[in-house]
Amino acid sequence: GELSGGCPFSGADSVRSLHGRTNRDWWPDALQLDILGQGGKSPDPLGDDFNYAEAFNALDYDALKADLTALMTDSQPWWPADYGHYGPFFIRMAWHAAGTYRTGDGRGGSSSGQQRFAPLNSWPDNGNLDKARRLLWPVKQKYGKNISWADLFILAGNVAIESMGGPVFGFGGGRADVYEPETVYWGTEDKWVDEGVATRIIPDEGKALDNPLAAIQMGLIYVNPEGPGGDPHDAEGMARDMRETFSRMAMNDEETVALTAGGHAFGKAHGAKPSDTFGGSPESEALALQGFGWLNDKDEIGRGNITTSGIEGAWTNTPTQWTGDYFRLLLDYDYELVQSPAGANQWQPIDQKEEDMAPDARDPSKKVPTMMTTADMALKRDPEYRKISERFRNDQAALDDAFARAWFKLCHRDMGPKARYQGPEVPSEDLIWQDPVPEGSTPANGAVADFKSAILESGLSVSELVKAAWASAGTYRNSDHRGGSNGARVRLAPQKDWAANDPEELSKVLGKIDELRGDISMADAIVFAGAAAVEKAASDAGFNVSVPVTGGRGDASDEQTDAESFEPLEPFADGFRNYLRTKATVKTEEMLVDRAHLLGLSTPEMTALVGGMRALGAVSGNTGHGVFTDRPGQLTNDFFVNLLDMANEWKPVDGSQDEEFVGSDRASGEEKWRATRVDLVFGSNSQLRAVAEVFAENGNEQKFVDTFVSAWTKVMEAGRF
Ligand code: HEM
Repeated sequence: GELSGGCPFSGADSVRSLHGRTNRDWWPDALQLDILGQGGKSPDPLGDDFNYAEAFNALDYDALKADLTALMTDSQPWWPADYGHYGPFFIRMAWHAAGTYRTGDGRGGSSSGQQRFAPLNSWPDNGNLDKARRLLWPVKQKYGKNISWADLFILAGNVAIESMGGPVFGFGGGRADVYEPETVYWGTEDKWVDEGVATRIIPDEGKALDNPLAAIQMGLIYVNPEGPGGDPHDAEGMARDMRETFSRMAMNDEETVALTAGGHAFGKAHGAKPSDTFGGSPESEALALQGFGWLNDKDEIGRGNITTSGIEGAWTNTPTQWTGDYFRLLLDYDYELVQSPAGANQWQPIDQKEEDMAPDARDPSKKVPTMMTTADMALKRDPEYRKISERFRNDQAALDDAFARAWFKLCHRDMGPKARYQGPEVPSEDLIWQDPVPEGSTPANGAVADFKSAILESGLSVSELVKAAWASAGTYRNSDHRGGSNGARVRLAPQKDWAANDPEELSKVLGKIDELRGDISMADAIVFAGAAAVEKAASDAGFNVSVPVTGGRGDASDEQTDAESFEPLEPFADGFRNYLRTKATVKTEEMLVDRAHLLGLSTPEMTALVGGMRALGAVSGNTGHGVFTDRPGQLTNDFFVNLLDMANEWKPVDGSQDEEFVGSDRASGEEKWRATRVDLVFGSNSQLRAVAEVFAENGNEQKFVDTFVSAWTKVMEAGRF
């Protein structure tokens, strides 16, 4: 226009993005390191010194619960409460906050308030939960930093259950909020709940759910309520999808039935109008809507004509009271397939008695038929689920207990050890899924010094001791705070037998440590032995360092270990030890970054650890891959020096696999080193190369050693609370 050539922010035909085309647009295949930038967190506006657990413990907890109870029945004209009670709505909000958790990588879940951010705030399955969160804002504002959004979502769900007479098992606070969306792999599809790609599980085509995903379609928490791909007749497929997705969030059949039936004892589904009469999702909506989505007609909303899932109706005749009516209605009536006003498939009781009908959500004098979704029908159509449903129908106390426990597990599964739970309602009972570890005691300094010298004289190598310590501590994931050195579960099944751990070597090393440790716990001794090895390796390279260890780890027993639940923690790849089980669809170097992220490492920390562990010869299978040094076992920067040396030329030697490489002398052609992708990425990726250069430079040797030691210590101490 007229102003062209003038102010860069005016005259454009359309508003441009500040960033324009980014590196990610140009090179979508390049390794993305952004998740390591801040350990996955943006700077907290409350500052790095803010201690949420302390703030939570200063909260007037009873006053907060009283305010939440009052909020349940304080209907707001801009989003009126069905039946005059927001309880069911808040239960759905809490369930969806927690229900993204998956055992595969421990990500998702309730523990950081992710429902506030895209994509979760805009997932079709989270429809209208923007209103539930906004209803909570006055309470959040009142109690401020003393209650996080993440805790508030779950506590509101608990208070909702209590206020409708339902059973709860307890509440642990302590979920600190983050302030940006976490980077989580939610799948690759480019459409939400795409009807063309109706399900991720297609047994006939041998298609299974990609790990670590736990939902059947992009944009869902779990399954399609209308049936696989929307097919209400596929009873078998419905049960299969539920079983698969719920098991990926650590729920067995009984827990699945208790949770689904217990949840649907409350509230209703919303499908009063075709869904295209509603606006876009919160993340895409107009500025003036202030973060609200799925909205346009205020009058219709006032009348209760709301569409969320598209399914319409309540499950029971008592939607704001905890009763056994759900199983009674499910099992006593036959059901026929009907369509909601929005066109969704759902099931209606045949010849329903008037007293079994539900009240209308706005007019209690009016009676409307109840309904079941195709997912609910699985609790009766699947033989295993049905047995459980019948048991619960005849034993209300069993349902109460199973629901309360399963709800507690759902909401706390990603919080890690019980030591992290805060507040007056933490149940005293230990639960196996909390991976309990008995309290340890801090060993005396003299005993530690004696043990460290004994282990260095035992004939075990630096590499063996470093590998054992890493096998123990390196399992930690800060996504759900599982794994880590505490408990010494590396000596128990299944970890002791993991291929990445070189089981025979590990068993020899652990045996020796056990023999020499005296009163020190195994868990502490493994870490002290690793520290002794690193100190010796540094000293042999001419550096005087001491590796700090905080003692006090306990040793868990087999009885305290749900072995099966540890299986997802087995490394498929561990770039720190140059381990890869088999080539995956994800690039091996991406799996390194993923592991570094789960360990809470920054890019320099990851880089120093990889280079240092290679120099120490701590490589799985003792393949020598990446050990670019002629003095393995010393903590040198040789890995970086040799990697960046232009005298070497690298070539893949495994054909199309592109996983194994040989480095040869450019002039003579003589083979010098063997490497993996994870080694070479530190010379290939421009950001990693920049860090590798720092560690290879003259004068920075001490910096490298210090960074290695602090990163090592971070990993060894991870999971201590
Ligand atoms: C609502 C599906 C499990 C609690 C709904 C709705 C659907 C649905 C379609 C209606 C949403 C709307 O239109 O407003 C499913 C499926 C499940 C499942 C397919 C698993 C197979 C659970 C669980 C809980 C739960 C485990 C909690 C323990 C609720 C509640 C509502 C609800 C309380 C009512 C919300 C309201 O009244 O506004 N569910 N659900 N659901 N769900 Fe579930």
